[in-house]
Amino acid sequence: MKLGVPQESFSGENRVSIVPAVVPQLVKLGCEVLVERGAGIAAGFRDEDYASKGATICDRSACCEADIVAQIRAVGANKNCGDTFQKGQNVIAMCDPLGEPDAVRQFAETGASLFSLEMIPRITRAQSMDVLSSMATVAGYRAVLLAATELPKMFPLMMTAAGTITPARVFVIGAGVAGLQAIATAKRLGAVVQAYDVRPAVREQVESLGGKFVELQLDTGAAEDKGGYAKAMGEEFYTKQREFMAEIASENDVVISTAAIPGKQSPLLLTADAVKGMGQGSVIVDLAAERGGNCELSKANEKVVEHGVTILGPTNLPGEIPKDASQMFAKNVVTFLSNMMADGKLNIDLDDEIVAGTLMAHEGEVTNGRVRDLLGMEPLPDPAEKEETIPFDDEDEAKEETDAADADSKSEDT
Ligand code: NAI
Repeated sequence: MKLGVPQESFSGENRVSIVPAVVPQLVKLGCEVLVERGAGIAAGFRDEDYASKGATICDRSACCEADIVAQIRAVGANKNCGDTFQKGQNVIAMCDPLGEPDAVRQFAETGASLFSLEMIPRITRAQSMDVLSSMATVAGYRAVLLAATELPKMFPLMMTAAGTITPARVFVIGAGVAGLQAIATAKRLGAVVQAYDVRPAVREQVESLGGKFVELQLDTGAAEDKGGYAKAMGEEFYTKQREFMAEIASENDVVISTAAIPGKQSPLLLTADAVKGMGQGSVIVDLAAERGGNCELSKANEKVVEHGVTILGPTNLPGEIPKDASQMFAKNVVTFLSNMMADGKLNIDLDDEIVAGTLMAHEGEVTNGRVRDLLGMEPLPDPAEKEETIPFDDEDEAKEETDAADADSKSEDT
């Protein structure tokens, strides 16, 4: 099977989907790896590095015609890329299917298969394939570095001959993957760190990283779903939370906000008034800016200065640390492929919840229920039901069997 690695075409995207270190693993799986000339340069990988690990360097069209095409962004996550695919090909990438369902519908018309890596279920078996977690880890780290650069004071406590410098105070909202990494990074830089999350279960993790878990007089009893994710709360809850957030934000130099509800707009937690209450020179890094933002004043990919507070809303922090982000992404892709490949062939087994969860389009159909729903399409028939209803070639034979079964059940009832 040929596996193509085109250069990313999205503006400012410096990552690459496959790094030289994983090429031997792909070869072992039965792939012939084709890398577009220069695809890894922005992430720090030369063509020679790929070639020395067994990849072939070629032009874009050869990569895009491969049986499997691995990308960082495709379809909805890079709508104007102009790449075209056809039946028999398999595209594996982050595709933003829930944000851009129409792009999935258009892709489905090509007949090719589309796997969207953001849709990998957060189950133990899929942890090593979870690109959202890997990328959030990078983002949490980078967010703290950005804040440290913008802040007009240093992070660590310093006792010098020129006096004592007090440590910066950092407040992290949302202690999921990005939030926990932000806490760890801010701690390592010497800041005093506090964090809040609606899921009380994360308290231990915050404390194990040296952060202080903020207790609020809010009832968070129903905040966690069965999968361990946050659920959207009612407006009354958010109104109260915003008041608390304003109070805590005013006591901190930096706020890193990462609060997210899967598949929903990010909750608004820091109002313009809360920003006004913060100290001159304070910094907010809103990691949720792409989905509406946790701060009322943040703007995606812009630096806003209001009431003396700097608010950053970066949407592609992993792209700013492309070497390690690519390394992690590539590892995730290889594990994802290992789960589907046997004897050099790709096996699309819909009984596997990872395969079924990520498959967005296949054989001309949009296959994901949530995307179909967003597109106003009827759900696809359940294959199990199909089997039950058409086990017979001959209609009469089927009717005879049904009648006999009915008669049996009636006699059992009596
Ligand atoms: P996650 O789902 O692991 O964590 C989100 C956390 O927010 C959860 O722990 C959840 O309980 C918490 N939360 C939800 N509602 C809350 C509320 N009202 N108050 C306090 N906490 C609340 O998500 P992950 O992977 O850590 O990502 C966090 C955010 O960062 C997402 O919005 C994601 O899209 C974004 N992100 C941004 C990147 C960038 O470059 N800007 C890169 C990667 C992720």
